[in-house]
Amino acid sequence: MSLIKDKIDPDNLPKHVAVIMDGNGRWAKSRGEERTFGHRNAINAVRNAINACNEIHIPYLTLYTFSSENWNRPAEEVNTLMNLLVETLLLEAEEIFSKGLRMHVIGNLDKLPPLVKDQLNRVVELTKENTKGNLVLAISYGSQNEILNAVKNISEEVKEGKINADDIDEKLFESHLYTKDFPPVDLLIRTSGEIRISNFLLWQIAYAELQFLDVLWPDFTKDIFFQCIVDYQNKERRFGKTGEQIKIQ
Ligand code: IPE
Ligand code: IPE
Ligand code: MG
Repeated sequence: MSLIKDKIDPDNLPKHVAVIMDGNGRWAKSRGEERTFGHRNAINAVRNAINACNEIHIPYLTLYTFSSENWNRPAEEVNTLMNLLVETLLLEAEEIFSKGLRMHVIGNLDKLPPLVKDQLNRVVELTKENTKGNLVLAISYGSQNEILNAVKNISEEVKEGKINADDIDEKLFESHLYTKDFPPVDLLIRTSGEIRISNFLLWQIAYAELQFLDVLWPDFTKDIFFQCIVDYQNKERRFGKTGEQIKIQ
């Protein structure tokens, strides 16, 4: 029984948690192993994050799995990551389904090998009626590119006379992002000690609480996740207002 979990207030949960799962390579290197050994050992940490969210009923979990910039890594590492994705989807699809989770994928999927795309589509399709929670995988994802595509699409609509430039507001802009059906991110967690965003959900984290952990991703546990939620709940989210205004709400 987790004591940390007991400290969580079920009435003040984040709706959307996003995680930058970083530090696999360093975890492996510190053990004298190849970087890919770290990626293999990351799967259990992914399971921990998904299970922790599921246990306390957080409706949206987005996992940064592979960035648009990660294509620039050595081909061998990219291949291993792609194979690992396929393997994991084959092994875990039933588990995701039986937990009642719906899987979504965001990113430029056209760049993915067909086998990876097929597996992703299969699990998205398999779980599309599930309603107990949403698991969003950001794969071949880059936030600047997502924003640029939104700008291009909106410009087209203006050019074709479908909308006026004056109609462009936050809501319309968001409707052109991959995340259009998801709530904004309430809590962003990054492991590995790096304090940067690395082109992840730039628009969507406008008012997120940010937590940077010194733990490397393969060491991530459910209790670490629960502690992040407790820390999140100890923050006062003011959204530009004063502390006094928030207290009388
Ligand atoms: C995160 O771990 C996994 C991916 C980016 C795919 P890294 O592979 O970036 O590990 P470090 O940051 O080099 O330790
Ligand atoms: C961010 O980690 C991407 C993922 C976790 C998938 P990186 O390791 O690629 O980020 P940088 O290069 O250190 O900023
Ligand atoms: Mg890294």
